[in-house]
Amino acid sequence: KKQEAWSARFSEPMSELVKRYTASVFFDKRLAEFDIQGSLAHATMLCEAGVITQADLQAIEKGMATIRQEIADGQFTWQLDLEDVHLNIERRLTEIIGEAGKRLHTGRSRNDQVATDIRLFLRFETDRICGLIRELLASLLAVADRNHDVVLPGFTHLQVAQPVTFGHHMMAYFEMFERDLERMQDCRKRINRLPLGAAALAGTTFPINRQRTCELLGFDSVTRNSLDSVSDRDFAIEFCAASSILMMHVSRLSEELILWMSPRYAFIDLPDRFCTGSSIMPQKKNPDVPELARGKTGRVYGHLTGLLTLMKGQPLAYNKDNQEDKEPLFDTVDTVVDTLTIFAEMIEGMKIKPENLRQATLQGYATATDLADALVKKGLPFRDAHEAVARAVRYCDQHVMGLEQLSVAQLAEALNLPELGYQADLVDQSLLDVLSLEGSLAARDHIGGTSPRQVRYAIDQAKIRLQM
Ligand code: ARG
Repeated sequence: KKQEAWSARFSEPMSELVKRYTASVFFDKRLAEFDIQGSLAHATMLCEAGVITQADLQAIEKGMATIRQEIADGQFTWQLDLEDVHLNIERRLTEIIGEAGKRLHTGRSRNDQVATDIRLFLRFETDRICGLIRELLASLLAVADRNHDVVLPGFTHLQVAQPVTFGHHMMAYFEMFERDLERMQDCRKRINRLPLGAAALAGTTFPINRQRTCELLGFDSVTRNSLDSVSDRDFAIEFCAASSILMMHVSRLSEELILWMSPRYAFIDLPDRFCTGSSIMPQKKNPDVPELARGKTGRVYGHLTGLLTLMKGQPLAYNKDNQEDKEPLFDTVDTVVDTLTIFAEMIEGMKIKPENLRQATLQGYATATDLADALVKKGLPFRDAHEAVARAVRYCDQHVMGLEQLSVAQLAEALNLPELGYQADLVDQSLLDVLSLEGSLAARDHIGGTSPRQVRYAIDQAKIRLQM
């Protein structure tokens, strides 16, 4: 007796290689729980619509309970000959309950079945990922909170630019990941629609009640076009796009952690449990976790490109190409879930070295802009103030000193205001006062600025949004 669910039409069996090539059970068995949920809802609806009997429904429910248990116990025998998760479960159901098992597939196709399974799977995983993003946000917030006024050099072009606070820097990532959370929540709206009822592509002749199945499975609405329902995977592509952007943020953060842990920076230390040593160099402690996260970002981008490419040439409606959507999707979910789980814990455990951060900030004339701003407040146009301060920086470079180390007389000499047509006596102690790191920070006191007061406010607002 032939095994394949559709084999009566065929006159010769498939070769082993073609079976293996076309089968998906060894990866799509991961959808089993969602396949069962979908089947139970479908059967309930069929029974209520009078398409199958109450006895059939009860048998199907009993059989599915057994199958669930077998899968949980690792006792279920997945068969390559049965191609995919759907046919494996249906065949086993029929083995257990007989006739009623064969009625389950009434008014349904694997095409709408698989589309439903993936949506149920992705809804579940998206919710899990949203929870994990919230955990990462909470970690960033905790670190920002503890260090809201710790100074560090803000960079542009990786050159010291202006002082910022560590809290401000962490809150920048908070903003990025909060938008990632929004993107995931938004994507969920388009995931959570029921395609079941589209059958193979055109709908079905049975008196199905899609609203009822929708309600049973907790979808927000039913899809509106049967051809579209079975053929598009844009919701999965959107999920991969949101995941790619999220991983891009993870990768930027990773890059900074790696730099900051280098002895050249020595800004932070990551807990030992997130680092590894070297098999040859005994002194090494490498930031492997952020390095891997930076690397794994590439594979998530790859999956996005893979799915876009998978979809682009497909005519309506379902094509077997779509079976290739699963492995990239599963790997994206696993990569994102693991990365977020680890990062939430690692960020929280990061040790900051405030003295090194301060020293690094003192090295690059980080308050030069403050000096220029102070000259503007004394009446110089900004361009002239910029020019004068640039000279002062050059003076300090030649004398190997910081701007804040200048005396009033030295500052006057260095700025050389008369050469630009201004009075030399504009230079006084008030100009030196603006050169302190704390003064520079405190002066940027507006929404979105780095003053400790504003960072405190940003943290408090974020706590309210996170409901912490
Ligand atoms: N395993 C298939 C998939 O993943 C299920 C749908 C197959 N339908 C079909 N007519 N061959 O897409």
